[in-house]
Amino acid sequence: MAQTTVLITGATGSVSSSLLAALRGRPGVRTRALVRDPAKADALRSDGHEVVVADLEEPDTLTDAFDSVDILFLLTPASALEPSMGSNAVAAARRAGVRHIVRNSAIKAGHDAPNRNGRLHAQVEDAVKASGIPWTILRPHYYMQNLLSSAASVAAEGTLYMNMGEARVGMIDARDVGVFAAKVIEDPGRHAGKTYTPTGPERATMADAAATLAKVLGRPVKYVALPQDAARQAMLGFGLPRWFVGNVVDYGTIYSEGWGDFVTGDFKGVTGHDARSFAQFARDFAPAFGGSAVTAAHA
Ligand SMILES: NC(=O)c1ccc[n+]([C@@H]2O[C@H](COP(=O)([O-])OP(=O)(O)OC[C@H]3O[C@@H](n4cnc5c(N)ncnc54)[C@H](OP(=O)(O)O)[C@@H]3O)[C@@H](O)[C@H]2O)c1
Repeated sequence: MAQTTVLITGATGSVSSSLLAALRGRPGVRTRALVRDPAKADALRSDGHEVVVADLEEPDTLTDAFDSVDILFLLTPASALEPSMGSNAVAAARRAGVRHIVRNSAIKAGHDAPNRNGRLHAQVEDAVKASGIPWTILRPHYYMQNLLSSAASVAAEGTLYMNMGEARVGMIDARDVGVFAAKVIEDPGRHAGKTYTPTGPERATMADAAATLAKVLGRPVKYVALPQDAARQAMLGFGLPRWFVGNVVDYGTIYSEGWGDFVTGDFKGVTGHDARSFAQFARDFAPAFGGSAVTAAHA
């Protein structure tokens, strides 16, 4: 059987590690994980993935990584440098004769998006579409994994601090974005030229999320809606980079206004099954929130 080589960037991150797991052992598919730090790649190697060391900020490092690649899964980290990293990857893909690009973008990306990350993603989407290579764009909703930023305070004091106001959000488990991407990669021609917005199965407030965590952990968890300025000062105080802090505040501001209060049928439409619920996420990540590993039967 002819082999299809799939190059996966962001391989140590939330979405791409799930994609690699979903593609593992799939007949006819060779998975190649792009990492910056080979020391982080031992688990990927032992799972049977080929590993290449490269940096999306450094175009010269990409030539070998892209050699003989058929399908590129292009995920860039949330950063002001996303357009630069994206265009470096697209240029390398063109040189290498890549046949399909699956781009991990973000919810409602657009040049007129109200947030900086949405506008940066629009630039990368444009570069992908201008490449002449068939493409599929995923614009996932808010990741459930974002709540892990408050996991320590849930564990220590039973408080979920988020800057998301009281609005509902159709958040998705980042692992399901990887599952979704794997389905696209299975039959890229069917998904060429399509833009999807994968979401979770339900619209929930952060107070709903706290109540679910409380049920799973078996102790009270309350939600505190951080005002945007307080969130900004707290994150800067922790030494987080200014761009990152501004990005989180942008999203918190627009989500608080109901910008993310929707779900779509894209996940089920493409995969044929429901995305994970927040309760499932809470069970799977219970140890991070200070709980013990729990089984579905307990929550
Ligand atoms: N958070 C959300 O709610 C949300 C929702 C929709 C879309 N998104 C988008 O999803 C993407 C982030 O996905 P994620 O959460 O799965 O990522 P993540 O867990 O933050 O991981 C980022 C990955 O990028 C790699 N990376 C960083 N700089 C790199 C470079 N210069 N060259 C090559 N690789 C580099 C990191 O590798 P190292 O291990 O070397 O650091 C890591 O593997 C962003 O584009 C974001 O805008 C996020």
